Amino acid sequence: MTMNHISVEQKLISRVEDVTPTVLRAMAATTDPRLKQLMTSLVTHLHQFVIETRPTEAEFEYGLRWIAELGHRTNEFHNEVVLAADAIGVSTLIDLINNDGMQGETMSALLGPFYRGEAPQCQCGDCIARSETPGAELYFSGRVVGVDGAPIEGATLDVWQASPVGLYENQDESQDDFNLRGKFRTDAEGRFHFVSVKPAGYPVPTDGPVGDLLRAQHRTPLRPAHIHFIVSAPAHKTLITQIFADTHEALVNDVVFGAKRQIVGAFVRHDEPHPDYPGAATPFYTCHYEFKLVEGTPCFPMPPISGKKG
Ligand code: BEZ
Ligand code: FE
Repeated sequence: MTMNHISVEQKLISRVEDVTPTVLRAMAATTDPRLKQLMTSLVTHLHQFVIETRPTEAEFEYGLRWIAELGHRTNEFHNEVVLAADAIGVSTLIDLINNDGMQGETMSALLGPFYRGEAPQCQCGDCIARSETPGAELYFSGRVVGVDGAPIEGATLDVWQASPVGLYENQDESQDDFNLRGKFRTDAEGRFHFVSVKPAGYPVPTDGPVGDLLRAQHRTPLRPAHIHFIVSAPAHKTLITQIFADTHEALVNDVVFGAKRQIVGAFVRHDEPHPDYPGAATPFYTCHYEFKLVEGTPCFPMPPISGKKG
């Protein structure tokens, strides 16, 4: 038997137990050590899952079609792949592994599929409702500080939220481009403020493969009311988070497992006119939130979408 013959024999698979070691051997020359670690672990766990659950060929085909459909449903104004990662808790796992809040910084939350990037730069006090938007007015103010409490001047807050009808502007032809999206910059005291509408809970899109899965699992498609923020400043770690405005029940039933008690905001309802908010129609809401950034290197997410329907 020649060496050549032996190595050919070793590569031929005839039993279930041969598959994992053979595939790992085939990948063994990977030069990038991190890629090698990730793929070795992924293949090992995935093979173990298959061996344990023994999918039928029909189930395998269904699973592959489900994954392919995630891609078919993804375009510049919708990202079903991100939605799927969110709905099975993977995005929140990635978030918690990379952002533990242990240095006193504000807790983060998953990015979600609706971040567009490129939102218009606004002046403090501007209203981000750019077209007719239902809902009570919201006066949101706050500060951006370091974990030592020192104000951060020139921090950027990239803000986005759904309309109270339950749709982000990219999903809704009736909303103007960049409705309920805007970027704000902090002043010398780290302060910012803007006007919007009080957020409402909304269902994630259910007309694709993620919706099929949620229905099969008898899960609610709802997210609790929230506003998204990406808070960034030079020499500080970029914070991707959401400020929640909802009941405990809605928070614990968040379909994408993103709600955290540390980032619930105090949304105060005002039924009477208030001298600090002269033009506000009652009832209106105020919320003040202090974002704490830890020192580090700014790093920005790739927007899951880049445009709007219609
Ligand atoms: C969102 O909050 O925008 C969101 C997050 C995950 C899935 C769907 C929507
Ligand atoms: Fe959202």
